[in-house]
Amino acid sequence: MKKLPLLGDITPAQFLRDYWHKKPLLIRNAIPGFKPLLNMEALTKLATTNHAESRLVTNVDGQWNMQHGPLESLPPMDQKEWTMLVQGVNLFDAKADALLRQFRFIPDARLDDLMVSFATDGGGVGPHFDSYDVFLLQAQGQRRWSIGPQKDLTLVEGLPLKILANFKPNEEFVLNPGDMLYLPPHYAHDGIAIGDCQTYSIGFRAPSYQELGEGFLQFMADSIDLPGIYADPDLEATAKPAEIPRHMLSTIVEEMNKVRFTEEDITIFLGEYMSEPKHNVFFTGPAKPLTVGKFADTAAKKGLLLSRKTQMLYRGKHVFINGESFGVSRADKVTLELLANTRALDGAALGQASDDVMDALYTWYTDGWIELG
Ligand code: SIN
Ligand code: CO
Repeated sequence: MKKLPLLGDITPAQFLRDYWHKKPLLIRNAIPGFKPLLNMEALTKLATTNHAESRLVTNVDGQWNMQHGPLESLPPMDQKEWTMLVQGVNLFDAKADALLRQFRFIPDARLDDLMVSFATDGGGVGPHFDSYDVFLLQAQGQRRWSIGPQKDLTLVEGLPLKILANFKPNEEFVLNPGDMLYLPPHYAHDGIAIGDCQTYSIGFRAPSYQELGEGFLQFMADSIDLPGIYADPDLEATAKPAEIPRHMLSTIVEEMNKVRFTEEDITIFLGEYMSEPKHNVFFTGPAKPLTVGKFADTAAKKGLLLSRKTQMLYRGKHVFINGESFGVSRADKVTLELLANTRALDGAALGQASDDVMDALYTWYTDGWIELG
């Protein structure tokens, strides 16, 4: 892979080998001339409606306060030390989506969202650490970042947000628009706005094994197949009627141990799980969908795109889209993998698509999962 200015002229492979999960990287001019992608009106609209997840963080006389959106209103612009944070901006704006997708040298299953924060002078969310990797791209004004590798991650108790009790930074940088700072998980940091400031966080996700385990057992509950019922033709009379018979226990242990999880079960679960839309994502299909025939003709001319909100993944012969899985043939796999990786199909690729794929594409189009180009 070639060197990316976005990563400070190193290749994604070098970045992953030397920095990812390991140490911070400051990239001056990662995106030269970068400007905010949304104006304040559009950003405020997201925070004051229930579409996007948002928060307002203030620090008044040393008191941290956090309000969850939808926010009724914002503090005055001439009030210092407040921050508005809007999560998942990529779902609402094409340019924000395109920015997030510049980070696709990391698999979609790990990429989370683009969060935008706006702060007035002195604003920030306090010294803290995050559990996931993050790229902090300066979008407007300046922010001073203090960071440090400390192991003591004790938090101040009783606050509405995570604040490190003993923050000991060992480096400081002032970021200008277009500069970007990568931080690995659990790296302590504090970003303070110098004048009005916007920072874009490119965030990642990693499921916890506990949440996966719980989800997997629920998933398997629908598919386990254990025929037969317990029987005890050799039952003997008991003087301890309340005791569970040993034979009953040992037989049932043996039967329960027949529950086996194959790698394929786990693949299907994982693909469905990782492609499941977030709770606040809703799809709307076209108001007046084209007929199947018209859809195929138009798609052949204009091509198809995945909706910004669609998460499409695959592994082996399984394709996953928005929480659903499909086992596909070798030929269909080529078309669907192309759609998943490039998030688009042109007329030529559609010309190769089987009837099964065209049927699925039409359903996804009427559901709002894909759009005509
Ligand atoms: C911010 O943008 O204000 C906070 C981002 C972070 O520290 O993770
Ligand atoms: Co953070």
